[in-house]
Amino acid sequence: MNTVLRIGSLELADNLLLAPMAGITNLPMRLLAREQGASLCFTEMVSVNGLVRDGAKSFSLMKSSPMDRPLGVQLFGDDPRLLAEGARLAEEFADLIDINMGCPVRKVVGSGAGSALLQSPEKVCAIVRQVRRVTSLPLTVKIRTGWTAESANYLEIGRIAAGEGVDAITLHPRTRAQMFEGRSDWSQIGELKQCLTIPVLGSGDIFTPEDVVAMLGQTGCDGVMIARGALGNPWIFRSASALKGGGAVLPPSPGERLDVARRHLEMFAADAGERVAVREMRKHLCWYAHGLPGAAQFRAAVNRTDSRVELESIMAGFFR
Ligand SMILES: Cc1cc2nc3c(=O)[nH]c(=O)nc-3n(C[C@H](O)[C@H](O)[C@H](O)COP(=O)(O)O)c2cc1C
Repeated sequence: MNTVLRIGSLELADNLLLAPMAGITNLPMRLLAREQGASLCFTEMVSVNGLVRDGAKSFSLMKSSPMDRPLGVQLFGDDPRLLAEGARLAEEFADLIDINMGCPVRKVVGSGAGSALLQSPEKVCAIVRQVRRVTSLPLTVKIRTGWTAESANYLEIGRIAAGEGVDAITLHPRTRAQMFEGRSDWSQIGELKQCLTIPVLGSGDIFTPEDVVAMLGQTGCDGVMIARGALGNPWIFRSASALKGGGAVLPPSPGERLDVARRHLEMFAADAGERVAVREMRKHLCWYAHGLPGAAQFRAAVNRTDSRVELESIMAGFFR
């Protein structure tokens, strides 16, 4: 069942989104998620410092194609003026701009960006205000609960961002201190939803189609972002969509798994060249094989080869 989701001027056919993931949600990954029903996909976080310095690496993270729409470009930085400039530069690649206020990794928070911003509500206010001024695209922020459990301020941050004109907020209900430890506390998504009139999207511990339905039901959130649950499993989108409409989950057949893994490699090679594709596809192939009989031997074989031809033959042997 599709549930229309409106984020500003963007009308999405369904409320299941592919979350931004650094080093993962590139063009091939997004296209495969879309084929299975992801209604909005995000780039990984893009440094506004990189964009403003005209860094090729930062611009390459926004590489897209006509099939890859609508596309959310996620930006990170800590300076309101640079974030506004970055948003202006990202506009031509994006259908929506998202600002990262949740990344917990040391390198990012050390520069004052990501979840470090939650420690400065005034800065959050200035960032959203300045970015809102330069773009008429739908604007969203993705936050965590707070820096620590004691200083959890997601309701305050949510009110500030909504007051400054964001069109939706995503909450990953863990604190920065938690990193990826423990369970995310979905009740906090429900609280944020109660507090705001703009759409609230939930993120955290969505590994199965049943988790999607449970999060929507328990929190009343408007949409669900799927992150780790989509690794090697783009089919989670179609199954979740079917399940929320009262249908049955639709796991992939072995042939389908092989076809998607093959096309993933093919698209990766077309996008980044064969050498990079073979190396980068190792992790994706391990995810595609997760839980299947013989996965350990498959993993070892995949990690041993540098040849695309050999990789294809290993894949054919395993997934068949
Ligand atoms: C490898 C990896 C990279 C991530 N990169 C980003 C990122 O660039 N921007 C972001 O907002 N969140 C990022 N996240 C967080 C996810 O978007 C998501 O909020 C988080 O994983 C919780 O969802 P899950 O438990 O369903 O995986 C990343 C997560 C993972 C596992």
